[in-house]
Amino acid sequence: MPVYRPPRIPARDITPEHLFFNRRSFLATAAGGMLAAAGTPALAEALKAAESRYTVDEKLTPEKDVTSYNNFYEFGLGKGDPAANSEKFKPTPWTVKVDGLVGKPKEFGLEELLAMPLEDRVYRMRCVEAWSMVIPWVGFPLSALLDKVEPLGDAKYVAFETIVRPEEMPGQSGYFQSLPWPYLEGLRLDEARHPLTILSVGVYGKTLPNQNGAPIRLVVPWKYGFKGIKSIVRITLTDKQPPSTWNISAPQEYGFYANVNPEVDHPRWSQASENRIGEGGFFGANRRPTLPFNGYGEEVASLYAGMDLRANY
Ligand code: MTE
Repeated sequence: MPVYRPPRIPARDITPEHLFFNRRSFLATAAGGMLAAAGTPALAEALKAAESRYTVDEKLTPEKDVTSYNNFYEFGLGKGDPAANSEKFKPTPWTVKVDGLVGKPKEFGLEELLAMPLEDRVYRMRCVEAWSMVIPWVGFPLSALLDKVEPLGDAKYVAFETIVRPEEMPGQSGYFQSLPWPYLEGLRLDEARHPLTILSVGVYGKTLPNQNGAPIRLVVPWKYGFKGIKSIVRITLTDKQPPSTWNISAPQEYGFYANVNPEVDHPRWSQASENRIGEGGFFGANRRPTLPFNGYGEEVASLYAGMDLRANY
């Protein structure tokens, strides 16, 4: 049986792998150094801070772990199932319909999405199951796509929907249905417009593998990983808080906001610490403390001013 090979992201759009890892720290250091030499250390610090929003000074999780330890229930419940069971899944041709409370609804072809100005973003990813990774994504800000459809004044939320294709996604058919399909997610419009929020089309400098959500998935680094809906086919602007799959399935365990919060435990386990995949066992000394908002508090805490974060898990 022929194996489908998705097209690679055009080389002009991404940084070559060997340059990629140090580019941001190099730029920040070099530019910062020049400014500091010119007697403007405050500006240099500000520049470094701006650069560090989009990278993480922590070891990248190996590519083999990022692409073989996955949650994608459409392909099965085990961590290895998405990689093992997604060979038949065809991420091209593909379109994403963007509609609802917008002035210019539009169905975007994948080619158009891949032609958006792509960026490298190294983000921490914290799963609600208390494991984490550091992942080099390729993608573009969701706000850039929203700008193209011109959200109307009464749009307050953004709803996302994954494809339903039981003939290619074995977890969507059969006797045992793990979740209701399609997988759904949602963000408040200001969360969706935040510069950290991206639609990813690649990882480790290559097109997204099927198991990571090909051809396009959401990445919101300050929220638990389940908000990062994969293989998106529809994005709808709305005035009501949209349903989200895990919230519908187990509301007592998974909230709509799902901001990473070490102080609010999951009913069945602590969220105070996490296991960084590739760094050793789930228990004991290798666990690292979980950071509020997954370490992105400076950028995003203001979005939730006045909200009781303990209640709005
Ligand atoms: N999106 C869909 N459509 N189906 C899923 O089962 N799992 C979520 C999220 N997006 C999921 C999904 C969960 S629980 C996590 S932790 C992340 O994808 C995992 O992303 P990764 O496999 O790329 O690490």
